[in-house]
Amino acid sequence: MTTPPDAAERFPSLVVIRHPLVQHKLTILRDRRTQTKIFKELVDEIAMLMAYEATADLPLDNLAVDTPLEQTMGKQVSGKKLTLVPILRAGLGMVEGILRLVPSARVGHIGLYRDHDTLEPVDYYFKVPSDAAERDFFVLDPMLATGGSAVSAVASLKRAGATRIRFLCLVAAPEGVRRLSAAHPDVTIYCASLDRELNAQGYILPGLGDAGDRLFGTR
Ligand code: PRP
Ligand code: URA
Repeated sequence: MTTPPDAAERFPSLVVIRHPLVQHKLTILRDRRTQTKIFKELVDEIAMLMAYEATADLPLDNLAVDTPLEQTMGKQVSGKKLTLVPILRAGLGMVEGILRLVPSARVGHIGLYRDHDTLEPVDYYFKVPSDAAERDFFVLDPMLATGGSAVSAVASLKRAGATRIRFLCLVAAPEGVRRLSAAHPDVTIYCASLDRELNAQGYILPGLGDAGDRLFGTR
């Protein structure tokens, strides 16, 4: 199951991955009683399942392979050109699950946190492979709320030369999808759920709370 028709109409660059396993795990993730260990495992598993869908159109190379009987031509993902870029901290929870599918992907990092008063992102770290123009980037962050962090992360990647960028999150607010797709219409946004709205403090409703705090047991 993919994007519901009303969301697809409002947000052409949004893909909602509604696979039953993803929805099942997301429900447990949202539950306030879910503790850090299980929360971390679920973020990892959902990221892996979403990556399976979000990589469906990855470029392939031809590869000759010797079976026990003869040589044939096979395909292989141009995995070395794939780069995962978690937004610190919460995006880190999505990396290992995706690397299990694409072990040769490179991993960059973007350090951003959202100022509690202004809700605007504050930059503190940026490191991606130097040949950014030749790579396919997946920016990872469980939460797309106001969209400030995502817009800033994508802009930093573009300044570094990246041209092929996708954004993978678990829960998105309409406000964030609107802001990210207005600023970067070329970026496909994948989420497991398009939630209702943001509250006055910039939290997604119904959401799952503070993803970074729940992942790392801080608060
Ligand atoms: C959270 C989340 C996103 C950001 C989303 O991070 O992981 O990065 O907020 O909000 P936005 O769309 O309104 O920018 P946070 O700033 O809490 O930092 P953390 O990951 O270090 O907890
Ligand atoms: N960041 C989070 O971790 N959760 C929200 O609901 C919004 C921003």
